[in-house]
Amino acid sequence: MFALTDEQKDIQKLARDFAQEKVAARAAEVDEQHKYPAENIADLTEMGFMGLCIPEEYGGTGMDEITKSLVIMELAQACASTAVIVDVHYLFSDIIMTMGSEALKAKYLPQAAEGKLGAFCLTEPNAGSDAGGLRTKAEKVEGGYILNGQKCFITNCGPDEGDFFIVIALTDPEKKTHGGMTAFLVERTNPGLSIGKTENKMGIRGSQTSELILQDCIVPEDAIVGKVGDGFKVAMVGLDGGRIGIASQAVGIAQGALAEAVKYAGQREQFGKPIGRNQGLQWYIADMATRTEAAKMLVLEAADLRERKENCTKVAAMAKLYAGETACFVTDLALQIHGGYGYMKDYPIERMYRDARITRIYEGTSEVQKMVIARSVM
Ligand code: CAA
Repeated sequence: MFALTDEQKDIQKLARDFAQEKVAARAAEVDEQHKYPAENIADLTEMGFMGLCIPEEYGGTGMDEITKSLVIMELAQACASTAVIVDVHYLFSDIIMTMGSEALKAKYLPQAAEGKLGAFCLTEPNAGSDAGGLRTKAEKVEGGYILNGQKCFITNCGPDEGDFFIVIALTDPEKKTHGGMTAFLVERTNPGLSIGKTENKMGIRGSQTSELILQDCIVPEDAIVGKVGDGFKVAMVGLDGGRIGIASQAVGIAQGALAEAVKYAGQREQFGKPIGRNQGLQWYIADMATRTEAAKMLVLEAADLRERKENCTKVAAMAKLYAGETACFVTDLALQIHGGYGYMKDYPIERMYRDARITRIYEGTSEVQKMVIARSVM
């Protein structure tokens, strides 16, 4: 079922070569300096990766969901920060592609393909797992809406990063998740939009994560993505795809950590032989490899369902759950195999261990994924 096409293999190789040659070399500095990897994003734009799934008529390369996952895996193997920046940018473009009006597509997709960065703004201080509890309001006025509220933990939102923001807001507070929310596209240049605190994070430190403040932020009616009242569905359908993206990131981190562990186990000698000759470590490696492969299969199944426009909610949640847990399992054992050296910043495993942790939290915690899976199964 998952024999890759020649085109998918070619793009995977292109992404792998670029990630291993350029992205991996920049990853430690990006992490240590909390530095947005602008060079990586510029190179990825140049190579056509920022518009990977955007149809050619809107300036993209028109690739499929499986290719998207493969590219995110390759990037994440080298630098999880770069992978999440690209992934959330894909989430933005995907929402515009699948639910935006023709005018929104014509205006924003070519810019997204040219590297103008997109973001998705659902989470609020009191609306994390309970996304339906958000309070940002959009009040109808002549010719448009006025938005007021505050979003938090927004990826691709930094002092200088982020150009376009999809904001989910209440248009009918009584109805909440059942028709009470609407999605709006807000531009960075809107005078009613400002960036609040930028977070100092444990991992994925190259990706900028900030508060987004909307104060009397006026947007025209044609900034609505989908229909009035469809905002929660826009968010949930978008998140089905977003979860496949984060699951791909998690698989990439696991693949990277596994490769580092195998390399180290072959080089490091104790008791007169490479530590990898010990069966205990071989069993670690076998478990790590098996779980990584299984996570990858779930991700590709979810991506395939989404590509075929079949309902992927359950499998996307399974992929996100399993891949996130696997990334943490694999990075933990990979660090263990490195012993004391793994705890030092001299080896990339220390960064991978920290980067992996968020994959059990963002785009819905592991516990939220279990809620989604159970609701689908029962
Ligand atoms: N597709 C289409 N529609 C969906 C849907 C889906 N996957 N999931 C729910 N809906 C619809 C329901 O059918 C329902 O519509 P009707 O009223 O017409 O029937 C409506 O949405 C409300 O659904 P629920 O009653 O199931 O909503 P809920 O309040 O119980 O919440 C939830 C469900 C799954 C827990 C949801 O709140 C959720 O996903 N929470 C986690 C939020 C999350 O993932 N945040 C991530 C933020 S983005 C991020 O992290 C990006 C980043 O930085 C990397």
